[in-house]
Amino acid sequence: MTYARIAGTGGYLPQKVLTNSDLEKMVDTSDQWIQERTGIKKRHVAEEGETTCDLAEQASLRAIEAAGIDASEIDLIVMATTTADQVFPSTACLLQRRLGIRGCPAFDVQAVCTGFIYAVAVAEKFIKAGGIRNALVVGAETFSRIIDWTDRDTCVLFGDGAGAVVLQASDAAGIISTHLHADGEYKDLLQVPAGISNGYAQVREGNAFTEMRGNEVFKIAVTTLGRIVDETLEANNMQKSDVDWLIPHQANIRIINATARKLKIPMDQVVVTVGEHGNTSAASVPLALDVAVRDGRIKRGETLLMEAFGGGFTWGSVLLTY
Ligand code: COA
Repeated sequence: MTYARIAGTGGYLPQKVLTNSDLEKMVDTSDQWIQERTGIKKRHVAEEGETTCDLAEQASLRAIEAAGIDASEIDLIVMATTTADQVFPSTACLLQRRLGIRGCPAFDVQAVCTGFIYAVAVAEKFIKAGGIRNALVVGAETFSRIIDWTDRDTCVLFGDGAGAVVLQASDAAGIISTHLHADGEYKDLLQVPAGISNGYAQVREGNAFTEMRGNEVFKIAVTTLGRIVDETLEANNMQKSDVDWLIPHQANIRIINATARKLKIPMDQVVVTVGEHGNTSAASVPLALDVAVRDGRIKRGETLLMEAFGGGFTWGSVLLTY
């Protein structure tokens, strides 16, 4: 049986850091409120002119190096982003050009904060179907571009960054299962209402911003993430104690704590980066994965459960042997 296994990981954060005290000067908020309600201390934001593809390129180069392959060996690029550089070509095609690769399929996936989970699931299916040996899967965002920096309800929560993995066809165990869901009924709770065919003037003027009914999103996120964990383990006849590492979407420490409690997994087996990164949307899971791989916490052979929840609503999980 062919598995898709993670051969290498990479992450990249823009240099510029925005602390909670910086935000205190911009909106009516406090470091104490942000830390207590979200766990966030700081976030990285792209400089003017720095794009999603710039961040994705750096994360990809690191993942390719960690996988010990040459960029020319990549035969599929799947990019998860909500903040594409251009209307078209896709950011995956722009990234392909940067990496000097030609000819392999490259496309974007849009599932907001669940984007990386969706992208991994898609790439895994390509690998299992045969014909693809090395897939570059990237989650990259410049979410700061779709934030109203005068809106304290949202601006304290988000940050920019990119994470990437090389998924490789392998006889040894890798991804065990993937689980994807969406429910468009919830579109109004978390959205950027303007788009290409709806309110394009706002996009051009730079007034297309994230709107969120935070409290309602919070409650649904907690129950939904609990359910996806149960669904994933039940599908594989596994117990909660079989999971070595939970790598959750990094939106709010209180959501992460609640999911870990439900899973009965101690917090020292949960990778938490929300304090340093904020919510980087599609980049949050691969960035957290990369941090814990590089600092030596996550080791080969361990069982990882990655999960995410985001606008749409979309939600999903990936269970794998690292
Ligand atoms: N600084 C200070 N006060 C703030 C604030 C800020 N940045 N943002 C909101 N407040 C205020 C509110 O105005 C409200 O004041 P009021 O009681 O006088 O009306 C109070 O704090 C409580 O607001 P509430 O929205 O009930 O807080 P909360 O505990 O739900 O926390 C979020 C707000 C946004 C942190 C939380 O709802 C959340 O994390 N939601 C999910 C967000 C998310 O994960 N989104 C992405 C999903 S991928």
